[in-house]
Amino acid sequence: MEAVNIGLLGFGTVGTGVVRIVENHQDDLRSQVGLPIRIAKVLVRDLDKPRGVSVAEDKLTDDPYAVIDDPSIHVIIEVMGGVARTKQYLLDALARGKHVVTANKDLMALHGPELMEQARRYKCDIMYEASVAGGIPIIRTLIDGFSSDRITKIMGIVNGTTNYILSKMTEEGASYLDVLGEAKQLGYAESDPTSDVEGMDAARKMTILSTLGFRTEVELADVSTRGISSVTLEDIRYAKRLGYALKLLGIAERQDEHISITVEPTMVKHTHPLASVGGVFNAVYVYGEAVGETMFYGPGAGELPTATSVVADLVAVVKNLRLGVNGLHSSTVYKPKKLKSDEQ
Ligand code: NAP
Ligand code: HSE
Repeated sequence: MEAVNIGLLGFGTVGTGVVRIVENHQDDLRSQVGLPIRIAKVLVRDLDKPRGVSVAEDKLTDDPYAVIDDPSIHVIIEVMGGVARTKQYLLDALARGKHVVTANKDLMALHGPELMEQARRYKCDIMYEASVAGGIPIIRTLIDGFSSDRITKIMGIVNGTTNYILSKMTEEGASYLDVLGEAKQLGYAESDPTSDVEGMDAARKMTILSTLGFRTEVELADVSTRGISSVTLEDIRYAKRLGYALKLLGIAERQDEHISITVEPTMVKHTHPLASVGGVFNAVYVYGEAVGETMFYGPGAGELPTATSVVADLVAVVKNLRLGVNGLHSSTVYKPKKLKSDEQ
């Protein structure tokens, strides 16, 4: 192998960041994996759309199987979004022996176990660090960093768009719709921002974090979810007068073998560190029986923070590929969970 060839599915906000980081950090990446990394093909929907960063015209394609079937491609980076069609692309890519890196929480929350099973079957890696909390390396932290502990609670702000909206409404009295428009412009919001503002994006992320943290298969339908679309400036001002900030919080708790997960707008006391997490930033608290309380903080969305996590996964995949092993994420096997409702 003379170089690692990447097939990039999607060239929007995150895909652009991936190309920039692979280009700008090429020497540093090469020194870590021992080979040059090349973007070999890029899947887009619209071949004529102007792009923030250029790739050679002959690398662009609107045919997904021109990427998936290309025998020279070693790793597929999926940053196109979507569920049913994208899942099939990734199952097919894994069946062709290609390793996968994805930023797609919708897909991983709904079909993560099936994709990981396919990865194990074909001895490939699938990694998805960017799917939760953008630039915070929370997924490898849960899998690896806390492997020695028993996690009892995961709590935090895991959606950048809603935190950006609530922060601007609180600090500047800005209107909900104006700030949502800004979050779209800045590339923080999903292509359909309903999933951000109605809490589904955060619920998907809490599903992934709970599955990993509690080492048990948690389903999206188990998350009780409420978003911020009905939060008014008056609610925010009232909370502020009482000494609280309004935040969209995800809380997952384990008691004995039972798990409960909620996502909802929550009053957070001004003195609590989560109250001062502003803008597009995310923060995740992890409580372990042995370690106690830990907190992770960083940018939760956006081009370069998200691409940082994607390319970190790429480096991990290439290191495994060179060692001839499969790693971290796909080696995790879960047991079925018990919910409080199982008892009724
Ligand atoms: P985006 O800006 O909308 O980009 C999507 C890209 O995929 C576009 O280049 C689009 O092509 C291409 N695409 C979509 N559907 C396609 C299809 N059917 N066939 C061919 N190409 C297709 O999205 P994004 O913000 O980069 O997000 C991508 C993924 O990363 C999503 O799963 C998202 O949830 C996840 N994510 C995003 C962020 C963030 O901050 N934005 C953070 C973490 C995770 P065209 O350019 O030709 O339209
Ligand atoms: N739309 C998501 C957010 C992108 O705002 O958090 C990062 O997953």
